[in-house]
Amino acid sequence: MSRTFRIERFGSVDSTNRLLSERAHDGAPAGLVIVADAQTAGRGRQGRTWTSEAGQGLYVSILRRPAVPATEAWRWTLLAGLAARAAVAPHLGGAGAWLKWPNDLFVGTRKLGGILCELRSTGGAIDGIVVGIGINLRPPGGGWPPDLSSRATSLLEQGAPDGLRDRVLKSLITSLEQLERELARSGGAADLMAQARDAMAPMIGRSASVELGGAVQTVVVTGLADSGALEVLDEGGAARTLLAGDVHLLG
Ligand code: BTN
Repeated sequence: MSRTFRIERFGSVDSTNRLLSERAHDGAPAGLVIVADAQTAGRGRQGRTWTSEAGQGLYVSILRRPAVPATEAWRWTLLAGLAARAAVAPHLGGAGAWLKWPNDLFVGTRKLGGILCELRSTGGAIDGIVVGIGINLRPPGGGWPPDLSSRATSLLEQGAPDGLRDRVLKSLITSLEQLERELARSGGAADLMAQARDAMAPMIGRSASVELGGAVQTVVVTGLADSGALEVLDEGGAARTLLAGDVHLLG
């Protein structure tokens, strides 16, 4: 991890993404990293909350200020997902982690972590990207709530020892930095997409329930477009792309 990154640690905060967004607005430099033991209002995608008990997870937000147009910001969700996948890989034994489009970290059929990138931009230029990452280290004290018990997992439940938070954090930052360097190289975007396709390979050929054209449809996932959109075949067999939203894999 280079000196470009500076880690600030907190006990409990409302949300590391919210706090870092405020710091970004106040002029914090790219590379500021905020980590908290717990969050009282951890943010998930689509307005959901992210369960964030003390010691249960890694809750981190990383400020990036890449000199690229705001239309390129979506790539940081992929970079963060790939970095998170690389950071947990050594602790998962044989079971590899994969990425579920657009930003979930999975082991088998269970979610191990999630990414929430929040963009600050002015007139098409990026002011900052708050890259928020949550990785489950262990189940909550009272166990997973009923709605998550069959869908969530943690490093501990995957056989990893306790106390990995700081190792995973360091590795996450190092991987993100490395992936950003790769992206900046000529041909880097194509390489990044190849890595993302590999990480999302378990989705290909699967049926999924998605919202498409205002209706819920059962589609078949066919690929990841260079634009970052998910490629699917709709119920009528037509090729369509999804730009955002939730994908519920079936079967
Ligand atoms: C999701 O899968 O819905 C995304 C979850 C992202 C959670 C992380 S925890 C650290 C950072 N701070 C937040 O408030 N959210 C992200």
